[in-house]
Amino acid sequence: VALTEIATSRIPAVAGGTLSTRYAYESDRVGCLSRWAGQYGDVFRFGTRTVVVNSPDLVHQVLVETNKSFAAATPLVEDLHTSSSENLELWMRGRRQGRRGIHPDRVRDCSSRLNEALRRGLAELAGHSSDLTSAAERVCGHAVVDICLGADAPDFYALVARASRDILAYNQTLHPPLWGAARRRRRAVAAEVDVSARLMSLIAARRTAGVRPDDDRDMISILLRQDNPLPDTSVAAMARITLIGGHSTPGTALAWIIRELAARPKIADRVRGEALASRTGNGDLRAEELPYTTALVKEMIRLYPPTWMLARVARQPLDLGPWRLAEGLRVVFCPYLLHRDERWWEQPQDLLPERWLGDEVPHAPNAYIPFGTGPRMCMGDRLGLTMLAVATAQMVADYRISVEEPAGAQPNADILLAPSQARVLLTPRHDHGPAAPDAGSR
Ligand code: HEM
Repeated sequence: VALTEIATSRIPAVAGGTLSTRYAYESDRVGCLSRWAGQYGDVFRFGTRTVVVNSPDLVHQVLVETNKSFAAATPLVEDLHTSSSENLELWMRGRRQGRRGIHPDRVRDCSSRLNEALRRGLAELAGHSSDLTSAAERVCGHAVVDICLGADAPDFYALVARASRDILAYNQTLHPPLWGAARRRRRAVAAEVDVSARLMSLIAARRTAGVRPDDDRDMISILLRQDNPLPDTSVAAMARITLIGGHSTPGTALAWIIRELAARPKIADRVRGEALASRTGNGDLRAEELPYTTALVKEMIRLYPPTWMLARVARQPLDLGPWRLAEGLRVVFCPYLLHRDERWWEQPQDLLPERWLGDEVPHAPNAYIPFGTGPRMCMGDRLGLTMLAVATAQMVADYRISVEEPAGAQPNADILLAPSQARVLLTPRHDHGPAAPDAGSR
């Protein structure tokens, strides 16, 4: 047995047979990880090839050393674009250029387009009951497609939504169930191939029409500019992963926010007051003028981080704190647990938007990672926060929210942590009175 294997094996292991621990995990993923962290400490083994890490500093080390000592396990099917070092270099170049397309300054510049896209998304929902998570995904998903593809966006809405659904269905966390796996994989691959092919046609059409060096009307134009030419296949990969990464994650966060606002009239009132006070004449809202709403968004993605679990793979034998990890070992960590750990937060189980309004950082170093960190951190962090603050404020300003959730329903912790199945109804408001009078008593 290799020395590294022996060292790895000193990491405390979850007791019980492979099948029984796996069964326990599949029955209650978040509950199991939380229980095992309490029982075995901040680093423990689960199965033969997975180590769970639950200390902010060690998690930070893994994230910061990604691309060197650790490989990012991209949550998409064709991770060819990120696996070999040649493609990794292209990906990182594309990331730098693509990020300019969703950079904070640019997000500010296209604020009216974002407002318009979110208003349209909310209006489409109004007046009829819809599935909560799908509805919220649709609102944010359309806005992201708009920012990335500009005038070409409408042709892509349905395609991206379908691809996002099929790809998420294939990528479960840790141990995807075996039944139906081949069918799910076929669908996910077909969805990726489809989106890539459509993006390649779009890129060809844009190139034929001519790309100006200063063109920044959308992310695709910025990727196609000549100042840092990327191969078309890389532009398509970048756009595809951004569209799919940006489609469901913020939508899942919005679903949690809607659910909470429907049940907490005091918070909804405060968000509404802020929105009505800062609205411009054309009805647009700017995230910079919504400090309380932004604090609520940060607090919601602390309590319910959509990417509740992240993974890396050790590219070589290496040290992590006092442990030596074998090459190929999967390292998993859970923002959900870090965000609710009383060693790093005060009153971690309570929803307290105010904690984000003071001058002090309200947590221990490295204990808040809803967007990850390091070289593979989320590319859309600022766009995500802005979009969620504006969508939340617009919704509460213009609609009464009611959510119906079956009693005892449990959240769904697949690749994204989503609220349990529930229905949402937005009813247009025609008054300027207090928010959410039909909400519950929390
Ligand atoms: C609340 C909203 C969002 C959350 C919580 C979120 C979270 C994350 C996290 C945690 C990662 C890193 C995954 C890892 O380290 O393995 C990630 C990656 C990524 N996100 Fe987001 N995201 C959000 C919104 C967005 C938006 C709006 C976009 C694009 C418009 C986007 C695009 C991406 C891309 C392209 C990556 C992959 C980066 C890479 O592998 O180099 N995300 N996101």
